[in-house]
Amino acid sequence: MASTAHDTKIVDQFTRWAQPFADLSVHADADGMARTLAAAAITPEMAVLDVACGPGIVACAAAPLARHITGIDLTPAMIDQARGRQRNAGLDNITWQVGDATRLPFEDDRFDVVLTRYSFHHIPDPGAALREMTRVCRPGGRVVVIDATPTADTQAAYDRMETLRDPSHASALTLDQLRALGQRAGLIERGTDFYRLEALLDTLADAEDMVGLTALFETDITSGEDRIGVAARHAADGIRFVFPVSIVAWDRQ
Ligand SMILES: C[S@@+](CC[C@H](N)C(=O)[O-])C[C@H]1O[C@@H](n2cnc3c(N)ncnc32)[C@H](O)[C@@H]1O
Repeated sequence: MASTAHDTKIVDQFTRWAQPFADLSVHADADGMARTLAAAAITPEMAVLDVACGPGIVACAAAPLARHITGIDLTPAMIDQARGRQRNAGLDNITWQVGDATRLPFEDDRFDVVLTRYSFHHIPDPGAALREMTRVCRPGGRVVVIDATPTADTQAAYDRMETLRDPSHASALTLDQLRALGQRAGLIERGTDFYRLEALLDTLADAEDMVGLTALFETDITSGEDRIGVAARHAADGIRFVFPVSIVAWDRQ
């Protein structure tokens, strides 16, 4: 399925990280999930698509609210994790598929809600993914993107940090850039929301990347400057920091 060098990086990274990603409790954070589901406004008759669904955390949380959920992801190991999560949760209204967010294998207008969480910063052309999400959403349906959004001032340092932590990182959009993508896709913005996701650095990177990453965080902590924009600090269990996460909800015209 991987067709570009970047796709290969994605599949390599998320094959290695499929299990740890699925197990990290921060990815099932209750406040973020409640805000995500509120933005999606799912009702029982709806068909929902979770794009770049990873291990199916959002898809499985949304399944009890919907008629049917489809989850699609580029990384087969993530889809394996998602199947396991669905089995453990006893959910029978989810279908999984391996596929690319920028070339969705679905007909126009097929879904009532199309959402994606924590994926746009991995996709070199997030505008193409949003256009595809819009295409497969029915007129009047809802499109939702949830992702970390640095400010314009912190974007470059944030991208440096993320690329060190995860070579499959492309670039995190600012909230204004994300809203502009929606406008270009012809979507009608219905609202934005925001949450902070606190994380422990040690749990989010391979050991070989830790030296450079730690140095980057230490510079911010000791200078007090917060150039990365993640409020990094020393805690009893290591370096902790906060992902600034935005939710943008649009309706398709
Ligand atoms: C950080 S994980 C997020 C997983 C899930 N959405 C969640 O919030 O728990 C990013 C996921 O995006 C997937 N991904 C990256 N680029 C993709 C693409 N072009 N098409 C489909 N999936 C992609 C990766 O395989 C990975 O599972």
